[in-house]
Amino acid sequence: YVIGVDLGTSAVKTLLMDRSGVIAAEATRSYPLFHDRPSWSEQRPEDWVTATLEAMKEVASAAGIDAAAIEGISFSGQMHGLVLLNDKGEVVRPAILWNDTRTTEQCREIEKVLGDKLLSVTRNPALEGFTLPKILWVRQHEKELFDQAAIFLLPKDYVRYRLTGQLHMDYSDAAGTLMLDVAGKVWSKEVLEAFQLADSFCPPLVESHGLVGTLLPEIAAATGLSAGTKVFAGGADNACGAIGAGILSEGLTLSSIGTSGVILSYENDKEKDFGGKVHFFNHGKENAFYAMGVTLAAGYSLSWFKKTFAPNESYDEMLAGVEQVKPGSNGLLFTPYLVGERTPHADPNIRASFIGVDGTHERIHFARAVMEGITFSLNESVDMFRQAGKTVDKVVSIGGGAQNPAWLQMQADIFNATVVSLENEQGPGLGAAMLAAYGCGWFESLEACADQFVKHADSYEPNPQAVETYASLFRVYQQVYAQTKTMND
Ligand code: XUL
Repeated sequence: YVIGVDLGTSAVKTLLMDRSGVIAAEATRSYPLFHDRPSWSEQRPEDWVTATLEAMKEVASAAGIDAAAIEGISFSGQMHGLVLLNDKGEVVRPAILWNDTRTTEQCREIEKVLGDKLLSVTRNPALEGFTLPKILWVRQHEKELFDQAAIFLLPKDYVRYRLTGQLHMDYSDAAGTLMLDVAGKVWSKEVLEAFQLADSFCPPLVESHGLVGTLLPEIAAATGLSAGTKVFAGGADNACGAIGAGILSEGLTLSSIGTSGVILSYENDKEKDFGGKVHFFNHGKENAFYAMGVTLAAGYSLSWFKKTFAPNESYDEMLAGVEQVKPGSNGLLFTPYLVGERTPHADPNIRASFIGVDGTHERIHFARAVMEGITFSLNESVDMFRQAGKTVDKVVSIGGGAQNPAWLQMQADIFNATVVSLENEQGPGLGAAMLAAYGCGWFESLEACADQFVKHADSYEPNPQAVETYASLFRVYQQVYAQTKTMND
């Protein structure tokens, strides 16, 4: 067996998997988020450790399983969160998370100091969520705390450190710090020098399937696992979500519609240039990369709609008949900017809109328009991938957007690509378990592991007529941003 640990923003989930890819047990433990100020989002690293140990213990004690047969553990982690440790390995302040937006000023400073190097070295724009701006914020606002900090880690790296006593970070997560030379796979001397950060501030880098230690005896005792259990580095949640969906070769794209939405495209070419319009990160597969665009309010737009207009219905009830409304929702168009937008606008202030409302529209038209608007937003990333020369002809759909056949068909029609759903979809936790399975030597490659662990369910082909309707609506959709921007400036 192996255990995949998915350290998320609201909870940690553990999956116990056998060699055939069957889930033997799973457990979840949640932890609080703290928003002491409106733009702040913090967590206590100790809460992650406590919750992870409990969830590991629960799967390790699953009926009929010999805990000694659990060979390896690996991780998927929420990206970008800053954990600062002093020279004794103690946490200096609460972790500042990916969805904390206090760092706009530091982002502008990074752009000014690094200039062209920002894109040529880190391959990404300076966004509030990323790690370097958080480091600069702590140095500027909490100097005494910053002076105590000897090293920084990302969330799952801290949990793994507590399990093994070893300090590491994998490339896929390090890519989200704005301190990694993404193509060169080293901490960037230029970035560290530009911000007077010591080399020793950055942990040693490893591959996601790399062995980084074994469980400490006291952790083994607390969880019922063996002290010899191997621990593998693991990866960023988006990289692990991609691995768990089998996105391991050119031409494969992931569409993940959860609270936020992600479109992620596998990339072999480390020099591929997307002009900084989408994120470009190292994959959890060795020497591979991915480009990614993010819709901030994807599933969140639909849950807002349900809460506001159908509070006493289930999603199935609210969406009953949505497949009978024609593509285009009879002229109704929605932009999903309820909390601003990341890709392609990087604009925290823009707000959503419905346009084209007329007296014949019923609630179901609005519901369909919301689903279409979310999918148009994701299509902005698909469009940019294609403009950069990528082929997007097969998209694996996961998350809430994969639960509804009408939404899967809509994705096929808007993306103009074949869309497939997965059997027993497990998200990033499965990718983490696959990294452990590959690290343990069960398979000769991650691809061979995916052949065994990742099973496609249904396939949806684009309908030429709907593709045409959506292509012209998408051009209208793209104009709405500029037209509504001034209302919110
Ligand atoms: C990616 C991002 C989120 C977090 C969520 O850039 O900010 O997807 O990884 O954990």
